[in-house]
Amino acid sequence: MSTPATTGHGKAVASMFSRIVPWYDMLNTVLSLGIDRYWRKRLVQEVRLGSTGTVLDLAAGTLDVSLAIRRRYPQARVPALDFCPPMLFQGQKKLRGANAQAISPVAADAKLLPLPDACVDAVTMAFGIRNILPRHEAFAEMARVLVPGGRACILEFGSGKQRVWGGVYNVYLDHILPRIGKIISQDASAYTYLADTIRNFPVAEALEEKMREAGFAAAWHIPLTSGIVCLHIAEKARS
Ligand SMILES: C[S@@+](CC[C@H](N)C(=O)[O-])C[C@H]1O[C@@H](n2cnc3c(N)ncnc32)[C@H](O)[C@@H]1O
Repeated sequence: MSTPATTGHGKAVASMFSRIVPWYDMLNTVLSLGIDRYWRKRLVQEVRLGSTGTVLDLAAGTLDVSLAIRRRYPQARVPALDFCPPMLFQGQKKLRGANAQAISPVAADAKLLPLPDACVDAVTMAFGIRNILPRHEAFAEMARVLVPGGRACILEFGSGKQRVWGGVYNVYLDHILPRIGKIISQDASAYTYLADTIRNFPVAEALEEKMREAGFAAAWHIPLTSGIVCLHIAEKARS
């Protein structure tokens, strides 16, 4: 199945997610001990709905963030964009009733959004930005489609370079997570990739600097679960 990914790196990432689709949701729950649900709920608490009534969910995957947005804002419309169509198809199976009307899955690259300027109140992205290079292109697109004063709310693992829980988490990340991922998904590379990208992910301050350079007026972060995960929030200028 073709992907709208705009680069070779993007095509490789989309292909990897298309291989692990059947196990993706289950492995999220197993590998995070179910805490991933709380992280997405916390992400959506930072979203502010305004005059457009629209929240753009980027790297939407199997639509768990899109559904969390609808739980918090039952009136919101949610375009859900991802460049891996099989992930969106899997997510679509979860949509019923009003959610099936309000959540619109669209195959698109976060670095080239098929949307006009200033058309959404907020942008969400959970566990997507780690996979995107160069990141400033995605940040610039987020800033472009947000209304003045709109927020980008980005959930991502913290930099795995930092020691957490006296190094226990780092041992989990380096040795246990890739093994469980391989056993369940039968895909050795996908969960080694996960650990590698977490380890190489920049610290929060460096990411925020990139967001400001891409056009956001302010950026800050909230560490969750001892910094294993970090919630990055950036606001576009009001005028
Ligand atoms: C780890 S999954 C996260 C899915 C979902 N947000 C969640 O919380 O479970 C990462 C998703 O990002 C998507 N993705 C990565 N880079 C992308 C890009 N440049 N444009 C659109 N989607 C992208 C992948 O296809 C994959 O579905």
